[in-house]
Amino acid sequence: MCGIFAYVNHCTPRPRKHILQTLVNGLKRLEYRGYDSAGLAVDGGSNATPTIDTKNNNNPSAHIVMIKQKGKVKNLDEKIYKNQELDFEVEFGTHVGIAHTRWATHGVPNAVNSHPQRSDKDNEFVVVHNGIMTNYKTIKTLLEGHGYEFESETDTEVVAKLIKYLWDNKENDDVSFSTLVERVIQQIEGAFAFVFKSRHYPGQCIATRRGSPLLIGIRSESKITTDSIPIYYSSAMKPTLERTESRSEVVTQDAEGGIEFYFASDASAIIEHTNRVIYLEDDDVAAVVKGGLSIHRIKRGNVNESGARVITSLQMEMAQIMKGEFSSFMQKEIFEQPESVVNTMRGRVLWDERRIHLGGLADHITEIRRCRRIIIIACGTSYHSAIATRQLLEELTELPVMVELASDFLDRSTPIFRDDVCFFISQSGETADTLMALQYCKNHGALTVGVTNTVGSTISRMTDCGVHINAGPEIGVASTKAYTSQFVALVMFAMMMCEDRYSKRQRYDEIFDALKALPDLIKEVLSLDQEIVNLSEQLHKHKSLLVMGRGYNFATCLEGALKIKEITYMHSEGIMAGELKHGPLALVDSDMPVLMIIVKDQVFGKCQNALQQVVARHGRPIIICDKEDQESPKCASHVLRIPQTVDCLQGILTVIPLQLLSYHMAVMKGLDVDFPRNLAKSVTVE
Ligand code: G6P
Repeated sequence: MCGIFAYVNHCTPRPRKHILQTLVNGLKRLEYRGYDSAGLAVDGGSNATPTIDTKNNNNPSAHIVMIKQKGKVKNLDEKIYKNQELDFEVEFGTHVGIAHTRWATHGVPNAVNSHPQRSDKDNEFVVVHNGIMTNYKTIKTLLEGHGYEFESETDTEVVAKLIKYLWDNKENDDVSFSTLVERVIQQIEGAFAFVFKSRHYPGQCIATRRGSPLLIGIRSESKITTDSIPIYYSSAMKPTLERTESRSEVVTQDAEGGIEFYFASDASAIIEHTNRVIYLEDDDVAAVVKGGLSIHRIKRGNVNESGARVITSLQMEMAQIMKGEFSSFMQKEIFEQPESVVNTMRGRVLWDERRIHLGGLADHITEIRRCRRIIIIACGTSYHSAIATRQLLEELTELPVMVELASDFLDRSTPIFRDDVCFFISQSGETADTLMALQYCKNHGALTVGVTNTVGSTISRMTDCGVHINAGPEIGVASTKAYTSQFVALVMFAMMMCEDRYSKRQRYDEIFDALKALPDLIKEVLSLDQEIVNLSEQLHKHKSLLVMGRGYNFATCLEGALKIKEITYMHSEGIMAGELKHGPLALVDSDMPVLMIIVKDQVFGKCQNALQQVVARHGRPIIICDKEDQESPKCASHVLRIPQTVDCLQGILTVIPLQLLSYHMAVMKGLDVDFPRNLAKSVTVE
């Protein structure tokens, strides 16, 4: 979903083509989030002043050029080089470039609706936005009343016009860019991350967020003089406040020293430039002025607010976000699972002591053990990981465990109490519905626990405690390795909850040993790849595919069907085998492909019944079963045999053939597996 990337080079001469390439590459790194158009803004002129007069911060002649294009980033890239106006070799000592991938919410995907949005025909202020404003219509009407004319259907254009309005009506010429932005965000309701550029403030870049993620990467050979950026507070009541005297900078100003800043919606666009980053908090207004970074925010009542933003080091490696030998990120991520589950367990499963230690929960585990119920809230694949582990959580904690889709949980205004513990599972840590559910549970006084894959994400920062699943960056829109790592993380949590319970010891030991063997078993399942290619040949032309199972493997049916839908665009349904007689049997005939998951667990007998019911309707099911199972294959048109593990972990092994099946079918259909139509990796709007 919308991606922001911006690049500031201060006292670091860069040719325009380097600046444009940096922006385009940044957008490419964000492509996986999902988008339908892209755009950027840079300084114009064929004869740009190589170095801005940093003392006086003055180069008003630099007009801003915007290039925007519907479709892929590569289309934008092509359009850039068709631009006759631009001299690509000209060097800029200091420059601000902003860029954006847009996922349409207000208005169709086209160049006009793409970002940056502008204040006026002269591009005095330009802005990129991730999120949705809820009160834009009111502000738009107000601005139209003052004669401002709108050209796009976006909510974002209102922001560009609003800042121009505030500039046109400023009390004096000294008003700072960040002050204008602070005033803008005081008027805005909804979710946003913004990055602004203006010809009135050359060399300056202002970024702010509320509800949508934004981080700033800093690169400098020698100039980073601090590990944190102090925050300067201003009062909402005094809109005329000036900030120039309170600038706190990440560098001491030195005309000879260069520094570069990268603003992005997520770390994958920054890591190739620097691993030194600052995560902005809601309502922070970050300003780069003369190569110095300062953060300002409006104090809200007596809220206890921290006085600094820490510069942290990204742990991510560049190689982790490259495809390597694989043809897509999804394929790479499927095959990474033997390692990603190890990374989830690393340092947490203490093999010698036979203990589980989730450091992020240690301080709260006693409180969690005393709670009245556990509620797990999530969307999409993350929701399925909760379904997959619910039974074990109930068994090992002996607490009621509710599993909720975040959107529905909010729609129902579900009652939440102070002695509830609410888990929020989210790969990205930024999913809007999950975030809103989190805020709701916080307001009701519950203890909140985050399970995310993204260090520094909003969910990981907003929750009281949590677990990072450490699966490594997941780029493919269809989640794969994050699912199995979420699964493992929740199993570890369930085990940690019952560590001291003698009555659970045998079960605990059984699962503990199975965790150790898990990576090798995953490798064994992955070796079925070629067999699954053959199966995909048979299936990819069908319109529909039913996936049936029950017990611990019902989640696999839901998740497998979701994978198939997401990337092959086939109709697919995950069906609880126990419900077969209550409707789905009507779908079964000799033409309908049915995939059944039957493993030797406590519902094996019931699954056999379901199998017989399908066969009796002339169905020839494809069966995923244990290697040792002699019975089920007799009725099958095709069998995928997988190794056996403990019942509660079997779902990790049964889901992998379905991940591979959906992947191969999508490839055979010629579809873009990493970027399926209409979907986004990070759903930052409701
Ligand atoms: C989107 C993605 C899914 C993901 C879901 C929840 O729909 O396409 O792959 O499962 O969001 O995302 P989260 O980041 O909260 O796990």
